[in-house]
Amino acid sequence: MKSFKAQILQGIPNSLPAKKQRGQVSHAPKRKDILNSQEKQLALRNALRYFPESWHKELSVDFAEELQTYGRIYMYRFMPEYKMYARAVDEYPVQSVQAAAIMVMIQNNLDPAVAQHPEELITYGGNGAVFQNWAQYLLTMHYLATMTNEQTLHIYSGHPMGLFPSSTDAPRVVVSNGMMIPNYSKPDDWEKFNALGVTQFGQMTAGSYMYIGPQGIVHGTTITVMNAFRKVLKKNETPQGKLFLTSGLGGMSGAQPKAGNICGCITICAEVNPEAAHKRHNQGWVDELVTDINVLVARVKRAQQKKEVVSIAYIGNIVEVWEVFDIENIHVHLGSDQTSLHNPWSGGYYPIGLSFEAANQMIRDEPETFKEKVKESLRRHAEAINRHTQKGTYFFDYGNAFLLEASRAGGDVCSENGTDFKYPSYVQDILGPMCFDYGFGPFRWVCTSGKAEDLDKTDAIAAGILETIMKDAPKEIQQQLSDNITWVKEAKKNKLVVGSQARILYADAEGRMKIAQAFNQAIQKGEISAPIVIGRDHHDVSGTDSPFRETSNIYDGSKYTADMAIHNVIGDSFRGATWVSIHNGGGVGWGEVINGGFGLVLDGKAETEHKIKNMLFYDVNNGIARRSWARNKEAMFAIQREMERTQGLKVTLPNRVEDAIIERLFKEDNPECKEK
Ligand SMILES: NC(=O)c1ccc[n+]([C@@H]2O[C@H](COP(=O)([O-])OP(=O)(O)OC[C@H]3O[C@@H](n4cnc5c(N)ncnc54)[C@H](O)[C@@H]3O)[C@@H](O)[C@H]2O)c1
Repeated sequence: MKSFKAQILQGIPNSLPAKKQRGQVSHAPKRKDILNSQEKQLALRNALRYFPESWHKELSVDFAEELQTYGRIYMYRFMPEYKMYARAVDEYPVQSVQAAAIMVMIQNNLDPAVAQHPEELITYGGNGAVFQNWAQYLLTMHYLATMTNEQTLHIYSGHPMGLFPSSTDAPRVVVSNGMMIPNYSKPDDWEKFNALGVTQFGQMTAGSYMYIGPQGIVHGTTITVMNAFRKVLKKNETPQGKLFLTSGLGGMSGAQPKAGNICGCITICAEVNPEAAHKRHNQGWVDELVTDINVLVARVKRAQQKKEVVSIAYIGNIVEVWEVFDIENIHVHLGSDQTSLHNPWSGGYYPIGLSFEAANQMIRDEPETFKEKVKESLRRHAEAINRHTQKGTYFFDYGNAFLLEASRAGGDVCSENGTDFKYPSYVQDILGPMCFDYGFGPFRWVCTSGKAEDLDKTDAIAAGILETIMKDAPKEIQQQLSDNITWVKEAKKNKLVVGSQARILYADAEGRMKIAQAFNQAIQKGEISAPIVIGRDHHDVSGTDSPFRETSNIYDGSKYTADMAIHNVIGDSFRGATWVSIHNGGGVGWGEVINGGFGLVLDGKAETEHKIKNMLFYDVNNGIARRSWARNKEAMFAIQREMERTQGLKVTLPNRVEDAIIERLFKEDNPECKEK
């Protein structure tokens, strides 16, 4: 067999590999059979253009079978022979270290220990793809292995369009995923054009090569739950013995009990799929499993009485738990939901009244009846939550489109003004005003040496930098700094690494720049043994326009625009990013969000310092400027502070109008039309 390096260099193999069986790993569900016969022929033509003519006869039969059986052409036959995981950066055959670091990131996203459906090239979220098929993977790795620092690789939804001459300062890779003409961005358009092989759903960090396993979501959920408790508890109270009720133990939602334990509360998480619940229990992410609702009630009452810190998975439907806890008068302090409502009709949400198996059967055999069952269940779900919130529960939408789908189903979740939801999204109430508007957002890094000791050194550097910043920081951001210092100091103990040696924390522009600079200097001095990739997820201050999530706390009407995300990706690309990406979909669903991200390779060179300052500054302050223009007071504070200390920054500031001046106008026409 050829060596790893030789296989990477060759790209598409010279001789046709034998047909392969799928492996014993989790596989993506069979996708909708959406193409007509002519479109199926087109999908085959599209797939075969990657291969020489002499292979077409054999491959056409193989690919037609895949399309018929799985609804997509994955080209399983071309799965590489070598083991898929992030190797140390110097194990890749490359001419450009920057390109090598990107290869590390791609292989991590496809590692079976990390990826949800590795053989379908899906990293997370059921449909978050790195590539559409294995030919795209092989070609991309070949291009990365052979490119120089004066070329840029352009990727269209997984397809490597090719290498184009550029310059050393340009990004090495530019990625777009799922970018559609706006009228063609309905969920079935994804089904159709993905089946044709011309687009993909890159989620956020799947198609941008920036996934670091569940750590990112554990951090985000911990910060959210911790701050949600701060909203409901009195100054001298702690979360101990207080109840957080939610659902979902899947890819991301599985982080909830672990985050609940880190926050120190009682977490009850309902999950209809026993396999998902057992998996999280075996991983130690949830402490106990309960299958009987009466046992659950007794257990929760005991935990509340004894003020325990514990997480319990209930194998059953979340609607049942809300309803029974209401009857039993169990006080829920915090409530949320993390079923996959970005994908309500094909297994993202299981309706009450049907067993897990019966629901799966109905999705296949009676999709229209299933839709009605989901809607009925969402209405009941909303009613039960409403009864709890009347008794004082704080409920928030955690960006899974619960309120959106419940409202579409006719659930009682709309507020009296007819435009907003009854409950805030976690961004409206928590992450927006407390973090994003001040520029605090995800900052992550990956040690490309693959060595745990390098990660330990970076943890210590990051904690030290944040502690220094905190000494002179204004009171408005002290809490965020303190939470993240605690987080990074305890991160190792919480055993969060899966796949590459990676870490995440939240910091503002100053924190992100200073930490990155310190890493770069440590690499220069040889204290850290290999380059570090810095980046972030797309769930951030500036990268994402998403009216039901990241930009849900924008109230000037511009939350349905996507200019910020577009400016961000263009702005980052010429300020020093090693790669940039822009996606349709991700998180809340296809057509509902435009999100972008970047990766920057810190190689210890002096010129990288300039890239760090220039790019990270813009990457955060672009979004603060936009949030300030939307009249968000925390962002106005942050951008004015930044202008005072940064020469060359001159942002247009809004003038606020007195409510009384506006509210006397257009009164009769539209009495409820008022901005929050
Ligand atoms: N705000 C954020 O930062 C954020 C982060 C991650 C995920 N999300 C959103 O949260 C959702 C979940 O993500 P995921 O990756 O965990 O998806 P997933 O599909 O892997 O997990 C969802 C789980 O919910 C379970 N479920 C569905 N209906 C149920 C019901 N009625 N009762 C009990 N369990 C039920 C499913 O069996 C599944 O295991 C997605 O919509 C995602 O976009 C938001």
